[in-house]
Amino acid sequence: MASYVVNGGRRLLGQVGIGGCKNAVLPILAATVATGRRSVIHNCPDISDTHVSIEILRHLGCDVVYDGAVMLVDASGTGERVLPEKYVQMMRSSVLFAGAVLGRFGRFETAFPGGCMLGARPIDLHLKAFELMGARFDGDENTISASAKKLEGRRISLDFPSVGATQNIILAAVNAHGRTLINNAAKEPEIADLQGFLRAAGARVHGAGSTTIVIEGGEKLHDVEYKIMPDRIVASTYLVAGAITRGHVRLNNVNVGDIMPVMNSLTQAGATLYTEGPSVILRMDDRPCAIPKITTAPHPNFPTDVQPQFTALLATAKGDSVIEEKLFEARDAHIDELVKMGANIKNIKGNRFEISGVEELQAADVVAKDLRGGAALILAALAAKGQSSIDGADYVKRGYEAIDKDLQALGADIEFA
Ligand code: UD1
Repeated sequence: MASYVVNGGRRLLGQVGIGGCKNAVLPILAATVATGRRSVIHNCPDISDTHVSIEILRHLGCDVVYDGAVMLVDASGTGERVLPEKYVQMMRSSVLFAGAVLGRFGRFETAFPGGCMLGARPIDLHLKAFELMGARFDGDENTISASAKKLEGRRISLDFPSVGATQNIILAAVNAHGRTLINNAAKEPEIADLQGFLRAAGARVHGAGSTTIVIEGGEKLHDVEYKIMPDRIVASTYLVAGAITRGHVRLNNVNVGDIMPVMNSLTQAGATLYTEGPSVILRMDDRPCAIPKITTAPHPNFPTDVQPQFTALLATAKGDSVIEEKLFEARDAHIDELVKMGANIKNIKGNRFEISGVEELQAADVVAKDLRGGAALILAALAAKGQSSIDGADYVKRGYEAIDKDLQALGADIEFA
């Protein structure tokens, strides 16, 4: 696997723009199948998960043209109901194509989805919802096969506000008969972006961003042109990069409201932040302050996708901090690697990290084992004096279009090798 080589110890200074959002583009690409029409999608991030989605779309019979930013998808010729195992196993959000295909064609067959290893990641809530809507299941321990004579809108109460399950229900429900109401829906901004795309295609979806979402199924959808929202996790990562290097950075093209929980925690860690329209400016002059406790939780709380980056930041803080990971049972692959860099972190059962901040991290050769954990190691390397190498760059490329170039624009010495 490729790696990043970082010569750390430089204060980041400068500005960079934030590109399109990974967790918004993936469900929206699945939604192009639900429309069965032509979609023009702007601001599609050029990340490896986008390319995996393109392969799935093509397998399903869509014509796709992508220039690295704008994607054209013609889903009028689709008809395939079996999702391609090879690509499904590369990416968790491939499961979203199931809802779109089920809604449109009344059946789907898929392998269990892959993705970053963060502990068990079941899809029971997705399948329970499809069943309530009239799907019947078949298959074995490796495949799921579902069919519905008539997919019906239903009232669905989620036991947990799962992002993927909320999206999958919406994707199936736009082509179901009648009204679907989702209770205890996830409120993540990316769900509002999916709603925005579907509404632009003529679907009747309301309430995304709140706990109740209503979908009136069966509207005839039309061709659509849409722009993907900026990536709040990339923006948060770069703000932490500014903070961990005691830098002064400006991020442009940010949905400020979406990153408030992270901005609040950065302020608590001693950073000065202010906003100018869609730009966020961060300045950090001293060592970060410890934060007694950060607990990850569904939006609008502190996001699990920024937990590893914050763990790296607090590893350099004055004093003791605790981070509790509540979304995933084992999102901890970065901890041992941070310890190799001199961090003092006690990992309690994979989801409680007791951090005693150290004055300085040391450069080391470390390995990224998942996407956000990899980003956290890059941030730690930016703060550590000397040369670090972060192996496993492919994980990072799943969600960052050009982390090396963006950080270079902020003055970092980082190369992709
Ligand atoms: C999405 C994001 C991911 C983020 C996560 C939580 C995408 C492509 N990915 O993932 O970056 O970290 O939201 O904000 O948007 N669960 C079940 N049964 C289910 C579904 C989920 O038990 O049927 C559990 C999961 O195992 C996990 C928790 O619920 O522990 C949260 O999962 P979910 O909100 O579904 O996250 P994803 O959609 O997979």
